[in-house]
Amino acid sequence: MTSYVTRARGEHIFICNCPRIKKKAMKCWAVVTGAGTGIGAALAKELTKHGLQVLAIGRRSDPLLQMQKECHFPDAIFPLAVDISTDEGQQKIFNAIPVDDSLKYLVQNAAVGVPSRIEDIKREDFEYALAVNVTAPIMLTKGFLPKLKNSGGRILHLGTNVAFKAQLGTTTYGVTKMAFHRLYEQLKVELAGSGVFVASVHPGVVKTEGLWEHIRLANEHHLPHVTYFDWVQKEGKMLTADFSAKFLTFVLMNTKDEEYSQEWHIHDEKHWSRWRNETK
Ligand SMILES: NC(=O)c1ccc[n+]([C@@H]2O[C@H](COP(=O)([O-])OP(=O)(O)OC[C@H]3O[C@@H](n4cnc5c(N)ncnc54)[C@H](OP(=O)(O)O)[C@@H]3O)[C@@H](O)[C@H]2O)c1
Repeated sequence: MTSYVTRARGEHIFICNCPRIKKKAMKCWAVVTGAGTGIGAALAKELTKHGLQVLAIGRRSDPLLQMQKECHFPDAIFPLAVDISTDEGQQKIFNAIPVDDSLKYLVQNAAVGVPSRIEDIKREDFEYALAVNVTAPIMLTKGFLPKLKNSGGRILHLGTNVAFKAQLGTTTYGVTKMAFHRLYEQLKVELAGSGVFVASVHPGVVKTEGLWEHIRLANEHHLPHVTYFDWVQKEGKMLTADFSAKFLTFVLMNTKDEEYSQEWHIHDEKHWSRWRNETK
């Protein structure tokens, strides 16, 4: 017989009733890809407030260490500088979670996508985006599935409207993000009845390093959709990563299994009353 109890800060402790092993403390993890900057960094910090140990992944060490420094619970952050698109990186990610610990949340947040018109598109940019935005999430899901099944875990995909709206210059980001959306739908079918749940979330237009870089490159290529970002900014509708991370945390931790597996939109007023008070 085994059971979980939840302690202060939501820390999960695994109790084993085996007579030889009186009591064993087991850590409960969340894996967040792309956790050095933007939405991923804000979410990693937020999740530590709920007693989770966070495996924070990014290619560069410096932003990961900076994020850890800013976190109220730095000991709960485990920074890991790897490229999720490589076999070696994926293996390091799997090895980072101790065998006896549990994994509750896999947040597929890292994404890339160089904007360019079809005339200028570079094969290596597209193939790299496919590897980061689609292949890596598939392989991370596959590798972590046994742990997720053990914990009744949840997978969260960071989606985007760009996937559903073709605009000039967004082939790489838009097509790979659409494939990523299709993966979310596929996983709902593949994982039905497994006890593992998958959701997709639209985080809004969020002020992040990734967004500024996208706008800079889109301006360079004179792509018309930058005017939308100018408008969002002028209207004061750009969100902070911290605000968006509160929403993601609500979706991950405060929703029932029956409702979790859906496409969540931050601007959907239906669920505001359930999470926005916390952000004031
Ligand atoms: N910001 C928005 O308005 C917005 C809107 C809709 C959806 N989203 C989605 O939200 C997610 C986060 O976006 P963001 O705006 O926070 O972007 P961001 O600041 O660029 O964050 C992406 C993170 O992913 C990491 N990363 C990229 N490639 C990686 C790889 N191969 N291996 C490991 N880490 C990698 C980057 O760090 P390194 O460079 O150090 O690897 C970076 O920290 C993305 O999925 C994006 O599509 C954002």
